[in-house]
Amino acid sequence: MDTLMIKVDEGTMPVHTDNGKIILIDQRKLPDAIEYFDATDIDQMCFAIVDMVVRGAPSIGVAAALSMAAHLQKLAGQQDSALTVRQFDEAKSKLDATRPTAVNLRWATSKVHMFACFLLNEKVDNSEFGKRIFEFAEHMLQDHLDRNRKLSDFGLSVVPQSARIITHCNAGSLAACGWGTALGVIRSAHAKGLKPSVFVDETRPRNQGSKLTMWELTQDGVPATLICDNMSGYLMQKGDVDMVITGADRIAANGDSANKIGTYPLAVLANHHAIPFYIAAPLSTFDPLIESGEEIPIEFRNKEEVLSLDGRTLTVNGAEALNPAFDVTPNQLIKGIITEEGVLRPPYKESIAAALKRNSEKATKI
Ligand code: MRU
Repeated sequence: MDTLMIKVDEGTMPVHTDNGKIILIDQRKLPDAIEYFDATDIDQMCFAIVDMVVRGAPSIGVAAALSMAAHLQKLAGQQDSALTVRQFDEAKSKLDATRPTAVNLRWATSKVHMFACFLLNEKVDNSEFGKRIFEFAEHMLQDHLDRNRKLSDFGLSVVPQSARIITHCNAGSLAACGWGTALGVIRSAHAKGLKPSVFVDETRPRNQGSKLTMWELTQDGVPATLICDNMSGYLMQKGDVDMVITGADRIAANGDSANKIGTYPLAVLANHHAIPFYIAAPLSTFDPLIESGEEIPIEFRNKEEVLSLDGRTLTVNGAEALNPAFDVTPNQLIKGIITEEGVLRPPYKESIAAALKRNSEKATKI
């Protein structure tokens, strides 16, 4: 299985199917060990998403879609179709409740849910239902990879030669189901010979930067330097940073973008120093149903993640801590949003609506 999971040319795939099983690379264990986690069962998948065995907005969406498909296979074929639809709803709600901020999760489970109801309506037999619903979810894996490659190619237009880039969290192959979004752009720039180099925010409290982004960039041979989250101002003031690129977990209709906690201060600093700040995200990360970032639900995680590091307590006994997992960067601070429909520019309300329209027209044609 190791050789199937590790596809060096595309990055490490976080999710993989094997004869109907859903296997995750256990991101909690990286970079020390490459271990796998069987999340075929829906409860195991819910645990895996909450505990961040699998993380990153697009990856949790695809993983949840596969798990939902595997679960729905078992429900189809009952006499009472109203009951079946109710059970479909329950499965979706259960997965959706695991992490509130990344909209990709709901986007992916809604797609599987809609397709399952369509199949039910068509009265396809059980084995046909099982085959088609699983294939539908599996297709999302390949589709994400294709879209990430495409958006990364568009991103090349904004990356200058020898760019010194700051990135935050992990928006690589692990987070985005192949190639990456923010790291995808960097990976494509590296492959094109643009010689980018990267300052990687460690990204406390879970350290996705030091553990995952450093691992991915090192595998690719992209020059990467780890920094603490409070060092970017120093580097920008010295003139050592040409641009910032991060991923996103949910982008509102007006371009306000939620991403890993610490992204907003990075955008403020970048704007203060007239350094372009870009977001890279597939269209599945956009939530056109909400007007602005104020409506994005922010996940608060266990305070233990702040109070300790890898199981070791960092502070005094009984200390209080706050742990919002995401913050929202207002659209005014974002120079461009790199998507598979091109680099979107302000005014975002118009450019986002147009990109989503183009994308849905393509889907209808297929
Ligand atoms: O809490 P995480 O690790 O799931 O948060 C991930 C991020 O914030 C990423 O930057 C974001 O999902 C973009 S991933 C392509």
